[in-house]
Amino acid sequence: MVVATTNRARVRHSCELLAHFKPTGDGWQARMDGVLLQCVARHNKSAMSHEPWLTRLIEFTTMHAVAYVSSATQRLATPQSIDRLLTGACSFNQACGVTGVLLHQGGNFFQYLEGPPEGVAQVYARVKRATSHHGLIELLNGPVEQRHFSAWSMGFAEATRSDLQRIAQASWANELGRISSAANADNPGLVMLLDFWRRGTRATG
Ligand SMILES: Cc1cc2nc3c(=O)[nH]c(=O)nc-3n(C[C@H](O)[C@H](O)[C@H](O)COP(=O)(O)O)c2cc1C
Repeated sequence: MVVATTNRARVRHSCELLAHFKPTGDGWQARMDGVLLQCVARHNKSAMSHEPWLTRLIEFTTMHAVAYVSSATQRLATPQSIDRLLTGACSFNQACGVTGVLLHQGGNFFQYLEGPPEGVAQVYARVKRATSHHGLIELLNGPVEQRHFSAWSMGFAEATRSDLQRIAQASWANELGRISSAANADNPGLVMLLDFWRRGTRATG
């Protein structure tokens, strides 16, 4: 997780700006800050290269996520074959700045990928080309507000049948392909996934 330091300051903003950001709900000041930072970076490339935190923060404010379900072919029938897949996936994902989780149950997969849009696109292209699964159904492909799995290049968990079904059948995106809330907190699919992941990581320490 990127930790950014902020300072309090009394600032006047135009009514139009406030009218645009305030209705987007909790976190509107952070979102407005993110947009301003992007403008600074765009107009001041040399400052950016001296400020790695700014580069990270800008990436952080323009995140993209993909979620899908698919089914394994015979070639992914053993735990060892899934381990091999994960080893390759982790290093490729790391190189692309992508994090996320893969859930498995009885030959069915659910995967959530998050990161900068180009990185997610590269990883997702590899996933779609992979011949070791089929029947891929996309649940989400759109911008998100933040990373949720920053510690995981590709976390993996065996899920129960009902957990996988509940997560896969939850609502993931609205009609624009966007996660339903700017803060992601009321996206049913994501809430279930995070809850499942927290329970699992608590259990395994
Ligand atoms: C369920 C599943 C999840 C995958 N996830 C990733 C991933 O997160 N990152 C990645 O680089 N490749 C991922 N891949 C693609 C694998 O890297 C790919 O299967 C591997 O390159 C071998 O290709 P093949 O399946 O055609 O044999 C995934 C593939 C499957 C089947």
